[in-house]
Amino acid sequence: MDGSGAHLGDTTRAGALPGQRSGARAGERGLLVVGAAEVATIAGGLRMGAAQADPAIAPPGTAIACLDGRIVTVAPAAEASEALVAALEASGRDPRAVDVLDAAGATVTPGLVDAHTHLLFAGSREDEVAMRARGATYLEILAGGGGILSTVRATRAASDAALLAHGRRWLARMLRTGTTTVEAKSGYGLDTTTELRLLAVAGRLAAEGPVDVVPTFLGAHAVPPEIRAAHLGDPDAATEAYVTAVITEQLPAVAAQGIARSCDVFCERGVFTADQARRILLAARALGLEIRLHADELAPSGGAELAAELGALSADHLGAPSAEGIAALARSAAASASASEGRRPVVAVLLPTVPWFLGLAAREPARELIEAGIPVALATDFNPGTSPVTSLPLVMTAAVLMLRLDPAEALVATTVNAAAALGLADRGALVPGLRADLVAWDVPTHAQVPYWAGTNLARAVVVGGRLVAGGAAG
Ligand code: NIG
Ligand code: FE
Repeated sequence: MDGSGAHLGDTTRAGALPGQRSGARAGERGLLVVGAAEVATIAGGLRMGAAQADPAIAPPGTAIACLDGRIVTVAPAAEASEALVAALEASGRDPRAVDVLDAAGATVTPGLVDAHTHLLFAGSREDEVAMRARGATYLEILAGGGGILSTVRATRAASDAALLAHGRRWLARMLRTGTTTVEAKSGYGLDTTTELRLLAVAGRLAAEGPVDVVPTFLGAHAVPPEIRAAHLGDPDAATEAYVTAVITEQLPAVAAQGIARSCDVFCERGVFTADQARRILLAARALGLEIRLHADELAPSGGAELAAELGALSADHLGAPSAEGIAALARSAAASASASEGRRPVVAVLLPTVPWFLGLAAREPARELIEAGIPVALATDFNPGTSPVTSLPLVMTAAVLMLRLDPAEALVATTVNAAAALGLADRGALVPGLRADLVAWDVPTHAQVPYWAGTNLARAVVVGGRLVAGGAAG
């Protein structure tokens, strides 16, 4: 099918250039995506409970018209083509200025949103994989000055240029497997200067594009070595002293810098307590930041309960939440669904490659969360210690195989629900007015995206209405 309608000349080339920013750009060409075997629109907003399994498949023959970074319409091909011509004419442009992307039997979905990554760091930690194979645990390695702390040493020593190059390298990998928005946490600086540097690099990467980068401040990721040394023999005092530094020094500087959108805390037994996390997150909120947290990754630590209490955007990991924590998140979701309360629910962001990579038997209770009506998202947790994983399709496979998610639930979890976990209502679905971020997958149905485990199926990736990657090279 050529889908070009009556009006389109000059349409054979999806003529976009990598590295161009999305957003309104007067004078640019339109894009018409035709020929999909299936268009999974994910229209209808954040999903919870049984609705999480609804991919909102459009009727056969549906095309997607994009202009100035946004979706103009999702409609039968001739209608979509006419809408694009009308939009070009209405803005005084040549109605033939349309590129056609022939999806040629592919599945088209929204661009994937990776709602939890530790994108920026230096070095690598493959040595810890061998240590764990010999019986060491993740928290033992951290307590011994390794783990996060070894990455902190490498990151503090890295130049801005090296961090930028690292960010570009891995964002390009993520883009190739269909990811168009990436949350990026700081947290490997643990001092004001380096935390601000990491956020500034994230901001630079966001401005460069094409992947949109959403920066999060995670000063409370671990207690830095100099504060441990100053309170030798009293780890609790060291942690308290660092919490004070995060609240009184780092957070005001981060807010003044103005790049971070959210604040995160690693709320975990042996790291930061729920009480310490509460103090940090309330201080962050008072400075205008959104809040999210690493909750109950390894042990029940009151993280899920705290996320519900504070109305955080997301509670992430949830490898070992308490029953009360799940009940609290379920109450938050139920309150959001009721017209009288109308609050936004806390999104549970699950990271199933983490227990896999750490060799843990525990699994996130995904089915229990969905059945309790809690909206679920999936993310990579890309980081050098627990998940050096860039591919959201691989995470979807892990979720389907290990957490028993349906493929449609996994797709919702990496699109509209992941966008909601970042507080972003302008993406994650193929709906008029939203960002024109989409992926053409080399399979006839979305159900096959997680099925061909470990194969890159992203044939074409569009960001802001421009073709920015072809998936053929894997
Ligand atoms: O999400 N849990 C804390 N932070 C990361 C791991 C960081 C690291 O080990 O470098 C996580 O698993
Ligand atoms: Fe994490």
